[in-house]
Amino acid sequence: MKGTDCREFLDWALPRLGFRCAGFHRVRGQVCKRIGRRLQTLGLPDPGAYRQLLEADPGEWERLDSFCRITICRFCRDRQVFEWLEQTALPELAGRAIAQDRAVLDCWSAGCGGGEEPYTLRILWDLCLASRFPAIRLDIVATDASLAMLARARRAVYQAGTLRELAESWVTDAFIRVQGEYRLRREFRTGIRFLRQDIRQRMPRGPFDLVLCRNLVFTYFDEVGQRRVLRRISRRMMAGGILVIGRNERMPLDSLNFSKDHAAPGVYRYRGSA
Ligand SMILES: C[S@@+](CC[C@H](N)C(=O)[O-])C[C@H]1O[C@@H](n2cnc3c(N)ncnc32)[C@H](O)[C@@H]1O
Repeated sequence: MKGTDCREFLDWALPRLGFRCAGFHRVRGQVCKRIGRRLQTLGLPDPGAYRQLLEADPGEWERLDSFCRITICRFCRDRQVFEWLEQTALPELAGRAIAQDRAVLDCWSAGCGGGEEPYTLRILWDLCLASRFPAIRLDIVATDASLAMLARARRAVYQAGTLRELAESWVTDAFIRVQGEYRLRREFRTGIRFLRQDIRQRMPRGPFDLVLCRNLVFTYFDEVGQRRVLRRISRRMMAGGILVIGRNERMPLDSLNFSKDHAAPGVYRYRGSA
């Protein structure tokens, strides 16, 4: 399949799925490869024929939607954010929880990929903060629409490349090397619930102290979708809670009741409902 054919096809299809074309600029190749394989399976000559099929068969849209899930992730992605969480945000949230007589900090990793994001949070808490806040337990809900990604998360075995941003001492403390791969030690897998949820349809109940929603909604969804998801996320946050989006992402302009925290990229504080 020619690149230009696929690009034209995506310009037509992505907005119909509620995605923004610009978000796919750098990852179009991945999506086109999947579509190419689908054309082969169906015996279709080109994306034009696939478009005709989509127009005739509404059920095929769901499959196309799944081809648009970008699954790039790694531990400690955007290290600066995790440093800020460790040094500033989590101690502050833990202090507030203690002042409110709460024993749990509730966190949500939305679009958790293969577990790299929630496990980074777990490792960070256990290795750096748990002993400072023995009265507090960190609970993490991790959601993703992809069964394959959730299976990877539950297996918790990783290639060296996905660990490259993680401090060496953390790799040593948290992983066991098995046949060239890295298996997360059992103790770092506790306190995390993995759930299959499409964020457009379902979300965990909350309320959350911390929500990580990075490199998904605010990259790939169109503005209507972004606003809708953001509104529903905000209803699941505690006043004073923290929302982290991707470092290259932007919130919709009138982001209700969130204020940007300039201490780290992509960090917002929820002021509470008006
Ligand atoms: C690019 S990865 C980002 C992973 C992680 N948040 C990070 O920043 O490294 C996006 C993840 O979102 C998941 N995803 C895509 N569409 C989704 C949806 N509608 N609802 C929930 N998860 C979705 C994908 O399966 C993938 O695991």
